[in-house]
Amino acid sequence: MILKIFKGEVLKQKTPCLVLGVLEGKLKDSLLLLLDKELGGTFSAAVRSHEFTARKGQTLLLHSGQGQGVKRVLFCGLGKEKDISLHSLRQTASSVSRLLAEKQLANFLLALPQVPVKKSSLAERVQAVAEGVQLANYRYDRYLGEKPAGQPIDLDKIGLLIAAKDSSAEAEEAVAAAEAIAAGVCFARDLVNAPGNLKSPEYLAMQAVAMAERVGISAKLLNRDALERQGFGAMLGVARGSERDPYLIVLEYRGGSKGQKPIALVGKGVVFDAGGISLKPAEKMDEMKMDMAGAAAVLGAMQAAAGLQLPVNLVAVVPAVENMPSGTALRPGDILRSLSGKTIEVLNTDAEGRLILADALTYVGRYQPRVVIDLATLTGACIIALGNHAAAVLGNHDGLIRQLLKAGERSGEKLWQLPLWEEYATQIKGDFADIKNTGGRPAGTITAAAFLQKFADKYTWAHLDIAGMAWEERGCAGQPKGGTGFGVRVLIEYLRGGLK
Ligand code: BES
Ligand code: MN
Ligand code: ZN
Repeated sequence: MILKIFKGEVLKQKTPCLVLGVLEGKLKDSLLLLLDKELGGTFSAAVRSHEFTARKGQTLLLHSGQGQGVKRVLFCGLGKEKDISLHSLRQTASSVSRLLAEKQLANFLLALPQVPVKKSSLAERVQAVAEGVQLANYRYDRYLGEKPAGQPIDLDKIGLLIAAKDSSAEAEEAVAAAEAIAAGVCFARDLVNAPGNLKSPEYLAMQAVAMAERVGISAKLLNRDALERQGFGAMLGVARGSERDPYLIVLEYRGGSKGQKPIALVGKGVVFDAGGISLKPAEKMDEMKMDMAGAAAVLGAMQAAAGLQLPVNLVAVVPAVENMPSGTALRPGDILRSLSGKTIEVLNTDAEGRLILADALTYVGRYQPRVVIDLATLTGACIIALGNHAAAVLGNHDGLIRQLLKAGERSGEKLWQLPLWEEYATQIKGDFADIKNTGGRPAGTITAAAFLQKFADKYTWAHLDIAGMAWEERGCAGQPKGGTGFGVRVLIEYLRGGLK
């Protein structure tokens, strides 16, 4: 797909389909009146009959009946002006792209960058629209034979129309940024969607190394031997149940000055979570191939950061393992010695994410990071708390959490803070070891974070529980069923925002 910036009057464009955003209550705008004339009064007729009210999400497709210029117009309702945000603009761009792809239209022109979004720059609007289009064009269809009829087609040439007064250079730069970010999101989606039989820890490591080579950043792997030598006892404990070797993936991107301490990103990389001996129920166990979505987000963000050439130093650490039941697997009651030296009583082998993250969080301390952010599909309790609309954020530094919350709002990847008061730590105090890996059912997301906190005590740290956000179950407008790539955009927004 090619995204291109166009400039000039709406009525003078040549396109199979012009997409125009319409505000509720502004159906008699001068441009709309002119267009209505071109369309032989069919637009005003649809308005008069209340077929089209410009309610958010509503669309109206009209043919001009003329061979030249604009062949069709897709009017899309934006709702009330006060409700429009960059996020809703991105969603609109996504859903109209999907709609037109389903109508087998692969070339169209979006006038959406001109939608009035409060306090937004042209670059932000163009980026939002361009991201929306590209993410709508994503599909994981490599294992499908013939595509069923009526499937959306791949988008081809998409134009973004800016106003005469706008800067083409600014808009083009924003398209390039959107392309780098969307590529990171799609890379993350591909990793999450990959089936478990293909997706061993080694596969994840190889994908990370290949990506690092592609974008020119450095990569290093610690294999089982290295992990044993260095004492990654918690991570190795989880890996014991699987035939597949664990890997610690470490990537470094240096876009900042030489002496600048890095920002560290840590991602849970459980390629398949069967639960171990504390086996999960069969229903929906297939979805547990997504238990490396934190890792995918971190890898996608590294790719995007390199693509954007962000002026910052980054280190990414991904513990990659498989959590399986077997004769060699961890038993409930086992005690592990973690890399930090702290001992852990494993009460439930299905609480494996915090075990591998404990060692990864200890390891990343060696880089003397100024900030550490981990992302993990850590607890089912997070889905109970926040559903599929926001990820939980917890940490040991309010300033960092505030920045992340803001990045969440701006990117549309919403975060919501949960408290991490010290009272919660009493739930995970060990009986036979320093700490236990579950704190019972109450406040499951918080006690999981309280567990991680014990291993993140040497730096500024935040944890994102993305359990409810990593996987789209049904598939909706602009978001196909499967991996969402959640986390890439909020991380990039945070990294870019911190630089402004
Ligand atoms: N990977 C799961 C959490 C999860 C569940 C993510 C559903 C996405 C969707 C995690 O490893 C897990 O099993 N957590 C347990 C912890 C419990 C045993 C303390 C859980 O949430 O039930
Ligand atoms: Mn689990
Ligand atoms: Zn898990």
